[in-house]
Amino acid sequence: MTLQTEELVDTSPIAAGVVSIDLNPLWRAVRLEMRSRSNDIHIPISFAFAERLCQAYPEADALVVRVAILLHDTGWARVDETKIISEGFGANWRQADIRYEHEVRGCEIAREVLPALGYTHEFISRVTDIIDGHDTRSESYSIEDSLVRDADRLWRFTTTGIALASGWFGQEPSAYCRRLRTDIVPELITAAAHEMALAELERAEALLQTDVLATGIDAPALDGSGA
Ligand SMILES: [Fe+2]
Ligand SMILES: [Fe+2]
Repeated sequence: MTLQTEELVDTSPIAAGVVSIDLNPLWRAVRLEMRSRSNDIHIPISFAFAERLCQAYPEADALVVRVAILLHDTGWARVDETKIISEGFGANWRQADIRYEHEVRGCEIAREVLPALGYTHEFISRVTDIIDGHDTRSESYSIEDSLVRDADRLWRFTTTGIALASGWFGQEPSAYCRRLRTDIVPELITAAAHEMALAELERAEALLQTDVLATGIDAPALDGSGA
């Protein structure tokens, strides 16, 4: 069931939002990990969506959500690069071993960097509980978990997300946009994320002229198998 909100939902272009700076020490602590798998594009955009979701659901602990989304995919930096393409985007990519591994490594990184920045053991556990299983567990355990899950998906609906992910999956933008509507929108847990996703997607499709440029022919996938 979709989680409703009485709060105002900000559906303005995410690219026009204000970037917060209070977590800059944490961003800097993991800047090398951000170099893997386009994390330095995906995570800042998903982080911005997470902040908007926290405004729409003030009952959530915003700091837990913001720290968890910031760190959730850092574990990709510690898995075999070649497998990211061969397994991470191939058939059954959702259940590939490498997905479990990046979650475990992400928790490891959280436990390494957060204590020195003053976060408590209890707080760190709440963050790692979300990172662990964020891609491989089907159910959400808490409101914070739900907001991280939605923010993790929302970046894909931006023009930037479409540009990167359509290449990863070897689909032309119009086909990838269709897939977002049929496969990813139904996965969103919150009503606010639904609104944000559709607003971003409509803007991106108009900008990319996907209805005019659709050919029905997909580009070769990065791993050669499609997904
Ligand atoms: Fe992930
Ligand atoms: Fe992610």
